[in-house]
Amino acid sequence: MKLFLKVWKQDGPQTEGRFESHVLDGVSEDSSFLEMLDQLNEQLLEEGKEPVAFDHDCREGICGTCSLNINGFAHGPENSTTTCQLHMRKFEDGDTITIEPFRAKAFPVIRDLVVDRSAFDKIIQAGGYITVRTGSAPDGNALPVPKEDADLAMDAAQCIGCGACVASCKNASAMLFTSAKAGHLNMLPQGQAEKDSRVLNMVAAMDEAGFGNCRNYGECSAACPKDISLDYIAKLNRDYAKAKIKKVFS
Ligand code: FES
Repeated sequence: MKLFLKVWKQDGPQTEGRFESHVLDGVSEDSSFLEMLDQLNEQLLEEGKEPVAFDHDCREGICGTCSLNINGFAHGPENSTTTCQLHMRKFEDGDTITIEPFRAKAFPVIRDLVVDRSAFDKIIQAGGYITVRTGSAPDGNALPVPKEDADLAMDAAQCIGCGACVASCKNASAMLFTSAKAGHLNMLPQGQAEKDSRVLNMVAAMDEAGFGNCRNYGECSAACPKDISLDYIAKLNRDYAKAKIKKVFS
């Protein structure tokens, strides 16, 4: 395949970025999108030019590190797919592909296609955990969990924190991420003791980090590579309202 690439280049957080055009020939349709970028970087190094910085780690849809806007879509045009799982066979020979970093005020560009997503870490640090001592693994039947609750908690726990939800939302809201990270704990018995403080603190951290408000556009869920449902946002809103009322009357 021969591809025409428009790639975002930015030297640092404070400098202005620009698109650079590259022609890349001989791309295998079996290569992944990140392997195609590796090929581009090899070509740039051979030409004595600077390679393009981009984020990646597991390259199998687990870590959430890869974060690219491809032709205007977070993680590209395929549903339920991270950038590292996207294959070049989804593109046509001769295509022009525009590659940008995730765009959001709370995700400043560090360099080229790499953004700083530590704002997500701050939300997790505010309550995305359980502080009880759990000891060694208990017997599986010691604490029964209804099947439906276990399934919903596991679905929420699939969130890999990639930030596609934020990058796709016109308000750059982090409600889908926050609701998944609070939700998977709030639905299990072990998460009940800290449920109220968890939702209040995580939402406060989300607001403080500069994410926008949720207006139920739904782009976040549509772009999510793990298909996290908007239902978790509705649940977070309910849990937040209950926690707030309890706090006012306590
Ligand atoms: S590199 Fe880990 S999810 Fe893409």
